[in-house]
Amino acid sequence: MKLETLLVHAGAERDETTGSIAPPLHLSTTFEHGPAGERPHGLIYIRDGNPTEARLERALAAIEGGGSARAFASGVAAGAALLQTLPPESHVLFPEDLYFVFRVMAGQHFARWGLTHSFVNMQDPRAVRAALRPSTRLVWTETPSNPLMQVTDLAAIASLARESGALVVCDNTFATPVLQRPLDLGADVVLHSTTKYLGGHSDVQGGALVFAARHGELASRAHAARTVLGGVASPFNSWLVLRGLRTLSLRMERHASSALRLARALTGHAAIEAVHYPGLEGTAGYEVAHRQMKAFGGMLSIRVKGGRERAVAVASRLRLFVNATSLGGTESLIEHRASSEGPATTTPQNLLRISVGLEHPDDLLADLDQALAVS
Ligand SMILES: Cc1ncc(COP(=O)(O)O)c(C=O)c1O
Repeated sequence: MKLETLLVHAGAERDETTGSIAPPLHLSTTFEHGPAGERPHGLIYIRDGNPTEARLERALAAIEGGGSARAFASGVAAGAALLQTLPPESHVLFPEDLYFVFRVMAGQHFARWGLTHSFVNMQDPRAVRAALRPSTRLVWTETPSNPLMQVTDLAAIASLARESGALVVCDNTFATPVLQRPLDLGADVVLHSTTKYLGGHSDVQGGALVFAARHGELASRAHAARTVLGGVASPFNSWLVLRGLRTLSLRMERHASSALRLARALTGHAAIEAVHYPGLEGTAGYEVAHRQMKAFGGMLSIRVKGGRERAVAVASRLRLFVNATSLGGTESLIEHRASSEGPATTTPQNLLRISVGLEHPDDLLADLDQALAVS
């Protein structure tokens, strides 16, 4: 089946009792069991798993081409659970440009969890080869990356990691399975913040791990970590993400075509120092992105000439774009990323991150033009 069809039907099996087309929302926290804890319905307690979440997990596994999936309360909870499956003294190799909370997690928690970590330029497979250690158990990739939009060659990194006995996780939040298929390229696990494009309407928080079919045992360990640490997805949030999946392919087409249009139009603008977007021919990640992505996604970053003050001034003059963090909703958002990340940020001070929504791109360009004109 084609992905567009799967997105409409995965996890949408008819409810046997009522025949309802929309999936039922099961809010029960507990499920009848036998006198000795037997599970006639396969369920026991909401933190271990619930039927609406299980539908979402079936859908996510199907659309990413995985063997199984686990849904979480947030993208960060999904990442934390994966890290909790690693044996003590494992080394994790992170990309230099990384969703900043995972950087904070490593800095604040890894020592207590018995893990070590280092950062590498993940765009450079030779640097990755040199940075792999005998103790490296996990290579963390995020492509395109947040917020510099750097591109990782997933097939190259997966083959290096395999040679050295490490797993590869790919944070596929920006690309989504519509535009990029990490498991087909050799990754072992896909991570999502379903808060973003999969939910798609800025009204639900969630996360997910999707495991390649060969990693059933790893999926069980992540499930055990979720049950004990508590980062489970709620039924209602699972239901909202399921609903978001139904329109994902259409939304991603529009997000990506509008973002490409904006990135091209802004390139060379007198007020802009650089545009970071993987779909710009001749820029660092283009060749790899062109090979491994179907289109280049709905996120881009611009670096405004004149530093932090000018960048903040541009953000303050926009009328249609909303100044807000997060991404992947129907509305266009802009964010002075360094301010959101705080004092520990590694993001350039003149960078504005843009989540291109579903408005007409002419209107978005007109808004950007007027905001950039007076800077
Ligand atoms: C690329 C990426 N991964 C993971 C996350 C974390 O997701 P959540 O906020 O759902 O915990 C985010 C959040 O912005 C993100 O942008």
